[in-house]
Amino acid sequence: MILKTDRLALRPQQQGDAAALFAILGDHRAMQFWNRPAIARLAVVEELVREQQAAMAQGLCRYWTVMRDGEAIGSVDLSLIRDGSAELGFLLRRDCWGAGLASEAVGVVVAHGFGALGLTRLAAAVQTENRAAARVLEKNGFALVEQARRPIASGDLRDCAFYARRR
Ligand SMILES: CC(C)(COP(=O)(O)OP(=O)(O)OC[C@H]1O[C@@H](n2cnc3c(N)ncnc32)[C@H](O)[C@@H]1OP(=O)(O)O)[C@@H](O)C(=O)NCCC(=O)NCCS
Repeated sequence: MILKTDRLALRPQQQGDAAALFAILGDHRAMQFWNRPAIARLAVVEELVREQQAAMAQGLCRYWTVMRDGEAIGSVDLSLIRDGSAELGFLLRRDCWGAGLASEAVGVVVAHGFGALGLTRLAAAVQTENRAAARVLEKNGFALVEQARRPIASGDLRDCAFYARRR
């Protein structure tokens, strides 16, 4: 289902979005607070998108590609969908930061999650230093639940902040 805001259209992710996503997932600054380092090769992102497409087909998650003026500039996803709950993730290409676009994209996915998808709780985890991401969550009604030092995918320990919002 395509979700629309004033400036954006969020359409279900397609395999062909890998190159646009590589522009973000391959950007060291955008990946600074991610749970894995920047991805160096397009082929790795293509494989990641294949895995995400397979998980979507099984109903485990939903990935939307954020489109502005016909160009793919980011992604918002709901993963770990079960028992009325899901985890929210989002990222945007760096040249699009600072214009409120992530907050707008997250807003329409939150509304869809609590509306058509019938979810009752959304959660999100960010690294504590990632103030922009925390702010996007706060602007969308998420509240800080817990702060803890946790291992990320690389095995490194990072200070993390866990947010949640109920319907
Ligand atoms: C996090 C991210 C999506 C934000 O995108 P964006 O479109 O710039 O976000 P918005 O403009 O909607 O909102 C950002 C808010 O953070 C604030 N902000 C930005 N940098 C900040 C900083 N260093 N310290 C404090 N606040 C900051 C902005 O001022 C804005 O708040 P405001 O509207 O109250 O002024 C983008 O930086 C990104 O893609 N980062 C890499 C991926 C990532 O970290 N994703 C989140 C993990 S799930």
